[in-house]
Amino acid sequence: ARRAIIVVAAGSGERLGRGIPKACVELAGRPILAHVMQRIQELTQGPMNPGGAAPGPGTPDPEAPGLDAVVLVLPADKSSVETLTAVGEQFRTATGVPVHLTRGGASRSSSVRAGVHELLRAAAGTWDPASTSVLIQDAARAMTPPGVYETVFAAVEAGAPAVVPALRVTDTIKRVHTEPGAATGAETVLETVPRSELRAVQTPQGFTLQLLQRAFDFIGDLPDAQAETLTDEAMIAEAMGVEVAVVPGSEQAVKITGPSDLAAAESLIQTTGA
Ligand code: C5P
Repeated sequence: ARRAIIVVAAGSGERLGRGIPKACVELAGRPILAHVMQRIQELTQGPMNPGGAAPGPGTPDPEAPGLDAVVLVLPADKSSVETLTAVGEQFRTATGVPVHLTRGGASRSSSVRAGVHELLRAAAGTWDPASTSVLIQDAARAMTPPGVYETVFAAVEAGAPAVVPALRVTDTIKRVHTEPGAATGAETVLETVPRSELRAVQTPQGFTLQLLQRAFDFIGDLPDAQAETLTDEAMIAEAMGVEVAVVPGSEQAVKITGPSDLAAAESLIQTTGA
């Protein structure tokens, strides 16, 4: 069995308002991507000191699970590529795990697709797609703990072709009707969705490489307008009639979207020393 992680880091980060791609934005003095890679390093080596150093020279946990490849999907601009390539290089040096780089696309799904193509190229047809587990991680979820990656890998390896980590929803969620062309606020409640059935889905989402290949064939056969509504790979699996397993996510795995998320992540780092 093989394990690979694709980190999609090609988003523009417009909503952070820093004028640079989100994965490059500094969080506690390091690019957001470096926080993701630290946790993936912990997955492969066991916990590290807050500074990011391993617990001591030559002490990676021998029981830690292996990882066969990481693919980083990067934005196009030169300065981001330099910053993020350096993060990848640091990870490769620390772990010995091969890091492959590729350029993302205009949408998250085209970036994921670029990552899968790069993985297939790197595997050069020698990996069995049915026994290769691939996690797709948003760079924006900088704080996803190593345990969530492990849980998702384990669920795929236990036989689920598609796996999402998720949390119960604490807010009451209502479906609303927005009056077409009406002023803001002109909305009425259609129904209250039973909360016990709702989950907020996070990343990493896990798949067999075989299912990802099938998913791209499936998408390729759909009209563009329909394909565009399937914004993550789990949705494609659902549309294909493949059962998607749900495993516990983490409160720490919030997606950094706006400035307040960045501030919340900073304070989490300060309080936990993570
Ligand atoms: O924009 P949003 O926060 O939904 O992006 C989720 C993840 O997808 C981020 O990690 C972002 O870097 C990535 N992404 C990408 N390519 C895009 C858009 C988003 O890799 N074109």
